[in-house]
Amino acid sequence: MAFKMSHFFLVSIAVVLFLFFFLQNSFAIETTWEERHHHLVQTSSLLPSSSCSSSTQGSKRKSTLDVVHKHGPCSQLNNNGKANSVETHSDILNNDKERIKYIQSKLLSSSNNNNNNKMKEIELDSSSANLPAKSALPFGYGNYYVVVGLGTPKRNLSLAFDTGSDLTWTQCQPCAGSCYKQIDEIFDPSKSTSYNNITCTSPDCTQLLSATEINPGCSRSTKACIYGIRYGDGSFSVGYFSSEQLTVTPTDTIENFLFGCGQDNEGLFIGVAGLLGLGRHPISFVQQTSQKYDKTFSYCLPSTSSGVGYLTFGSTNNNDVSYTSSPTASHGHSFYYIDILGITLNGTQLPISSSLFSSAGAIIDSGTVITRLPPTVYATLRDSFQKGMSKYPRAEPFSLFDTCYDLSGVEDLSIPQINFVLAGGVTVELVVPGILYTISSKQVCLAFAANRADTDLTVFGNVQQKTLEVVYDVGGGRIGFGSNGCN
Ligand SMILES: *[C@@H]1O[C@H](CO)[C@@H](O)[C@H](O)[C@H]1NC(C)=O
Ligand SMILES: *[C@@H]1O[C@H](CO)[C@@H](O)[C@H](O)[C@H]1NC(C)=O
Ligand SMILES: *[C@@H]1O[C@H](CO)[C@@H](O)[C@H](O)[C@H]1NC(C)=O
Repeated sequence: MAFKMSHFFLVSIAVVLFLFFFLQNSFAIETTWEERHHHLVQTSSLLPSSSCSSSTQGSKRKSTLDVVHKHGPCSQLNNNGKANSVETHSDILNNDKERIKYIQSKLLSSSNNNNNNKMKEIELDSSSANLPAKSALPFGYGNYYVVVGLGTPKRNLSLAFDTGSDLTWTQCQPCAGSCYKQIDEIFDPSKSTSYNNITCTSPDCTQLLSATEINPGCSRSTKACIYGIRYGDGSFSVGYFSSEQLTVTPTDTIENFLFGCGQDNEGLFIGVAGLLGLGRHPISFVQQTSQKYDKTFSYCLPSTSSGVGYLTFGSTNNNDVSYTSSPTASHGHSFYYIDILGITLNGTQLPISSSLFSSAGAIIDSGTVITRLPPTVYATLRDSFQKGMSKYPRAEPFSLFDTCYDLSGVEDLSIPQINFVLAGGVTVELVVPGILYTISSKQVCLAFAANRADTDLTVFGNVQQKTLEVVYDVGGGRIGFGSNGCN
C-alpha cells in the first residue's frame, strides 16, 4: 500500500548506477532499489533511453490517449525536423519560470476581474494583432502532449494538455494574423463539414471573459465571437470561438465541442498545434464532456521522457488510489487546489508549520515542471536533504536549482525519501526521478525550487508527479494519487 499516512518510513535506498553514453549529453541510469522497512517503487532509469518505450498500462484502458514528452524519443515534434530545435534543460527551466509568472498573474487578474464586459467590434486580419507579444522568447508551453482528432473528416492534432488553463484552441487556416510552425497540418475549418462559428450574442461567447481574463470581441462583418488568450511571457492566441466535432478516441466523439480556432498565434509553442484545456471553468474540456466522462480524468507521466504515459477520461479502474479533497478557491477558478500539510524526509516530518502552505494555498498543475515551495519550506527541505547527501560531492547550481551533486563517480547512491503529506490522510511518495533532476551524471540536482515569498502560491509540478496516477474527480471535488501508474 503505497499511500499510507500511518507509517513514516525509515528508508534508505541503494541505487546502482550503470552509466552509458549514447548521445552528446545523454546517458541512461539503471537503478535497483533496496530498502529496509517497506517496499518502494522500482525505477528502471533516471534518464531517457534513446529509443521510445511503448505504452504500458494506458493502452489497455478505455477512452485513453498516449501522453508523450515533447522532447523525448517518442515525440513526433522534434524528430522530423519540421518544428523548432530541441529545447535544452536550461530552456525548459526558463520556460517554467514563465509558467509560474503566468499562474501568479492569472490569480491576480481573476481577483481583480471587474467584469466590464464591453465587446469590441474588430476584424481579424494581418493588421489586427491586438495582443502584441512582449518578447519572442521561445515559450515551451506544457511539455506533454496528446493527439486528438478535430473536424469532419477528422484531422489529427497534437495538443499540449494543461490542467492550469481552460480554453482549448488550435491554430487555424487561413492564419489571418500569423501561425507558428507546427508538425500537424494546420486545421482548415473550410474543409470540415461540422465546423460552426459561435456568434457574439451567444452566452458561450460571453463566458470567455472569465476563462481567459480578456473580453471577447465581435467580428464586424459576420458577428462571429472572437477570443483572445495570453500566456506567460506574452505568448497568445486570437481567433474565432467555434464549435466542432472532437474525436477523442475512435469510439469517443464529442459533438459541438467549443474551441478557439486561432488566426493569430505567437510565442513558439514548439511544434504542438495548440492546447487542450483541462481546468475547472465551464468552457474547459472537462466541463464540456461532463455527460460522457462525468468530470473525471486521470493521467500518468512517465519516469523519463522516453516513456509513454496516458491521459484517461472517465473514472479510473485503479482501486489503489488515495483521495484528498480539492477545495474550491474564491479566485483562480481554473486551478486544482490541494491541502498540503507537510513534507517528510527519510521518514521524519520536516519542522515546518502547515500554515505556510495554507496561507497562500497550493495547486497541482500538469504544466508546471518543478514544484515551487514557500522559501521557508524550501530552505528546510534543502538543508535536510543536503545533510542526508553529505557524502556525495557537490556540483555547480543549475538554473532554478541550488543543490546539485556530481554523481559521475558514484555507484551506490542512497538518497533520502521525500513524501508529501496531504489532507485526508494521503501521503504522496515521490519516486527518484521526482526528487532528482538529472542534467548530466556530473550535475544531478534536487528537483525543487523556492517561490519568491512565503505568500506566493505553492505549485506541485509535473516532475514530482512522475509515475503516479493522478486522478481529477472534478465533480467530487477531490484529487487522487495512486502509485505505479506507469513506468
Ligand atoms: C491519427 O492518430 C491516430 C491515433 O494516434 C492514428 O491511429 C491515425 O493513423 C492518425 N491518422 C492520421 C491521418 O494521421
Ligand atoms: C466564420 O466566421 C468567419 C469570419 O467572420 C468567416 O470568414 C467564416 O466564413 C465563418 N464560417 C462559418 C462556417 O460560418
Ligand atoms: C535515513 O534514516 C535512517 C534511520 O534514521 C538513517 O540510518 C539513514 O542514514 C538516513 N538516510 C539518509 C540518506 O538520510
